[in-house]
Amino acid sequence: AEDPLTDGFGRRFPYLRLSLTEACNFSCSYCLPNGYQADGRPRFLEVDEIGRLVSAFATLGMHKIRLTGGEPSLRKDLDAIIKRVADVPGIRKVAITTNGTLLPRRLPGWHRAGLTALNVSMDSLRRDRFHAITGHDRLPEILEGLALAQALGMESVKVNAVLLRGLNDDELPAWMDFLRDRPISVRFIELMRTGDNADYFERHHLRASVVVEQLLAAGWRLRPRAADAGPAQEYTHPDHRGRIGVIAPYSKDFCQGCNRLRVTARGDLRLCLFGEFGVPLRALLQHDDDRDALLARITTQLGLKAAGHGLHQNQTGLVPNLASIGG
Ligand code: GTP
Ligand code: 5AD
Ligand code: SF4
Repeated sequence: AEDPLTDGFGRRFPYLRLSLTEACNFSCSYCLPNGYQADGRPRFLEVDEIGRLVSAFATLGMHKIRLTGGEPSLRKDLDAIIKRVADVPGIRKVAITTNGTLLPRRLPGWHRAGLTALNVSMDSLRRDRFHAITGHDRLPEILEGLALAQALGMESVKVNAVLLRGLNDDELPAWMDFLRDRPISVRFIELMRTGDNADYFERHHLRASVVVEQLLAAGWRLRPRAADAGPAQEYTHPDHRGRIGVIAPYSKDFCQGCNRLRVTARGDLRLCLFGEFGVPLRALLQHDDDRDALLARITTQLGLKAAGHGLHQNQTGLVPNLASIGG
């Protein structure tokens, strides 16, 4: 494969986040508090379109694809999508970000289809809090899913917990216990302000530095960042198999390490989570003949990628919530 795509700031893009659906079966209080409302617009990308898209990005040197959403496991054809993506020459990692409710039933099939990495959202270790934050009392299935991922020997298992002031910000000791014998990376994500959650953000946003201070005080130490690492800064401790990390998009140099592009469930290329509109690729995904035009559109667009997002200006992001574009 070629060298990864590079933008005007010298950042490399080996990693595509592909949203498979805007729908979700949860109603997380920071994302879709009233649940997903279908709006009757056209269907989401189909397997053949996804195959052409991923194959174009692989030609441009991308080797990791993360399937996201919405909740990607709501796609009935997810096994076929994983297989199609995993079979594209040059693709080395196929990852998914899921709320985890379907893991006990579906993970073995995804694993057989070629899934290599699993990120599961789990905002609390306490069942009552998990229920209150997500609107669904499903923590037991998710814990079962994590155990299954380990039993299957998945290459990489991570947990995402959005850090919420007053709702789950006292659980670090419990997470440390949880990670004593589990080779999982838990990442505390700073709540991001989106178009729909301004009041919630004011009430519950908390800086990740409060977690980092507690980690350092308990003897956890920063792990050197791997070359292809994502946005998390991870900490390790000799007595714990698992890692604890923070994802802090409000920290100054966060975007300097950006290594990903996004494609929405309707086939729009987005250069950044915040701050710009998508560019449609779907019309170029209908025939193999359009491949050169597709490659040209992607590379031209990449030249426009900005140095960073607009979150520091405290402006409301253009996206209504992360489910609508594939956080
Ligand atoms: P890996 O490094 O592959 O594990 O990816 P990841 O940690 O980025 O993936 P995941 O889907 O688990 O995302 C975790 C959190 O990071 C989510 O809240 C994402 O919205 C957030 N995130 C991921 N990429 C970006 C980004 O480029 N910018 C911002 N602001 N947030 C991001
Ligand atoms: N801020 C931070 N994280 C968010 N997520 C969804 N919305 C937000 C937000 N506004 C998280 C989900 C999931 C991950 C993909 O994104 O909880 O773990
Ligand atoms: Fe990259 Fe935009 Fe995310 Fe910053 S916010 S890391 S520029 S995608």
